[in-house]
Amino acid sequence: KASYTLADGTPLSDLVRVPTREVQMRALSDPEIYQLEMDRVFGKTWLLLGHESEVPNSGDFVVRDMGSDSVIVARAKDGNIHVSLNVCPHRGMRISTVDAGNTQIHKCIYHGWAFKPSGEFIGAPVEKECMHGKMMPKEDLGLPQARVTLYGGIIFATWDLEGPSFEEFLGDAKWYFDTLFERSDKGLEVLGPPQRFIVRANWKAAGEQSAADGYHTLTLHRWLGEVGNYSKSGEGGSADLSPEMYGVEVSSPHGHALRCIDLGRKIRKLTGLDPSELTVDQKLEALPPPGMTHEMLPQLRKRLSEEQLEVMVSMPPQVGGIFPNVLFAFVYIPQADGSVLGLTLLHAYVPKGPDQLEFVNWVLAEKDAPQELKDRMLMQSIQLFGTSGMVEQDDSDTWPHMTLAAKGARGRRSTLKYQAVYETGAPAGWPGPGIVNEGFTKDDTQWHWWLYWNELMNAKA
Ligand code: FES
Ligand code: FE
Repeated sequence: KASYTLADGTPLSDLVRVPTREVQMRALSDPEIYQLEMDRVFGKTWLLLGHESEVPNSGDFVVRDMGSDSVIVARAKDGNIHVSLNVCPHRGMRISTVDAGNTQIHKCIYHGWAFKPSGEFIGAPVEKECMHGKMMPKEDLGLPQARVTLYGGIIFATWDLEGPSFEEFLGDAKWYFDTLFERSDKGLEVLGPPQRFIVRANWKAAGEQSAADGYHTLTLHRWLGEVGNYSKSGEGGSADLSPEMYGVEVSSPHGHALRCIDLGRKIRKLTGLDPSELTVDQKLEALPPPGMTHEMLPQLRKRLSEEQLEVMVSMPPQVGGIFPNVLFAFVYIPQADGSVLGLTLLHAYVPKGPDQLEFVNWVLAEKDAPQELKDRMLMQSIQLFGTSGMVEQDDSDTWPHMTLAAKGARGRRSTLKYQAVYETGAPAGWPGPGIVNEGFTKDDTQWHWWLYWNELMNAKA
């Protein structure tokens, strides 16, 4: 561990107080802490940038952010996706000033230096007249490259060229994530460009909530239980969401988190049968995973183990996070006609300063799914999630208040308290790995999120 002292004399290692499971509020607003995070968290971890279906053709590109750096995510002629720092090596101008497009030549608007989608330097205007052959070698003028990986077609990148592989970074959580992102032959695709909007909040307010905070649903999203179809219990009209609070939560030493919620009530309602008497196949037939059709079920069998399928049909991961700033939702939404519609979403909470984040919302679907199903998924996702969604307007209303509170002369010295501790462990026979606990939702997954944040922030450079 490195010792680092903040400008006011507070040791950095005192922000997360392990024995009492508290976090100093100032972590949600302090500009000095934010600057350190850009290097120590966003410079070190694998970050979500999008999905390869956003850049299907050679030359396609989107402009995204890795922490405080803008990057160009582009497909090169060889078919590979490259992630290049969006900064011109000449005078530091932003090279791509648009959000997306297609080009084989990224030309800086300032003096015209040009780069390939792979980030390689092509040339500068009037090179001979200007530089008289004294220019640095072309290899030294390319754009800095991040390390890229595709996981289920999802694009992740890191500046840590020598650090852990993406698989190592996911660790035990990969066993569960594979049931979501690697379960079909053709994989996922995005349904249109992502929604993007600014929330005046520190990215960690959203990040730690994404580490599977189930507890807030009871109060903040109480209306879900009151408006019928959207009732998470599937029965409508009841304000009691507490049955949905039971399940299994998985934490990870790398801050990833999963909330696995019992499907028993939904399967009982759909079949009229006791789920414990149904086989895995019968349960899959009764309630296919979000976005999958009956025709696609054999793909699951081919790609996943029996143990993974067992979890999928009984207690599947439905919401959770990939550290540091990603939320996934693979949720089962009850419909007016008694059926269930699955939705698949990814969010990134991109830091834009100590008190501002950009919420990026990708709606996904299985490529193989019929268009009619994709249309319904897109429509329902827009109604519930993201900018226009009824659910996430609740969430994004709390984060700015927390951020403002963390700026208060007294408030910044208050602490966040993670006191709801599991004492259960995994249910008998639970086949999945990781730090697993069963019962009413607790604070453990969010606490483990902070522990990894703390580890990265205090790690030796
Ligand atoms: Fe880009 Fe000069 S800053 S060409
Ligand atoms: Fe929420």
